[in-house]
Amino acid sequence: MVTRKRPTGPYDARVAVYPGSFDPLTNGHLDIIERGTRMFDRVIVAVLVNASKDPLFSVDERVTMARDAVRGLDGAEVDTFEGLLVDYVARARAGVVVRGLRAISDFEYEYQMALMNRRLNDQVETVFMMPAEQYVYISSRLVKEVCMLGGNVSGLVPAAVEQRLVAKRAAMAAHAGE
Ligand code: PNS
Repeated sequence: MVTRKRPTGPYDARVAVYPGSFDPLTNGHLDIIERGTRMFDRVIVAVLVNASKDPLFSVDERVTMARDAVRGLDGAEVDTFEGLLVDYVARARAGVVVRGLRAISDFEYEYQMALMNRRLNDQVETVFMMPAEQYVYISSRLVKEVCMLGGNVSGLVPAAVEQRLVAKRAAMAAHAGE
């Protein structure tokens, strides 16, 4: 029998980068991170530093919330990145990018990004993961909108994130009343 060696890339396939804006991190993100740590030795939650997206939370706030959320979860860590994702992934020597897929509507954008990233660096594989059903409809954008309009977001985000969202709402209301 002819045996062929498995091709290995220059990066570590046991290390995954989970990139995003995380503005803020939701329980859906956390679910993907937890699932990721069962598949990979390390999951680096990589928070995008990008002023052009006009985030509600500063990068420091987003990182603090993410660190809080993954505290005690073996294999999960939080970092920031600027510039091209594939460049960050290569610097981290990670072989995999993890992205969550909630619904078909996510697919087109995610597929485009995955193929563009592959064109930029074909040694990096994108792996799509599905969150638990109860998180399928959650997005950072909706959570922010609901909370800022006075809705209850408990159960949709970690408790520490909820506290910060409520504080942000109060600060914005106070500012508007000045
Ligand atoms: O949580 P988001 O906003 O959907 O995450 C999008 C993110 C951060 C993964 C994407 O915007 C990104 O990778 N930005 C870095 C710049 C880059 O590499 N752009 C080309 C992607 S094909």
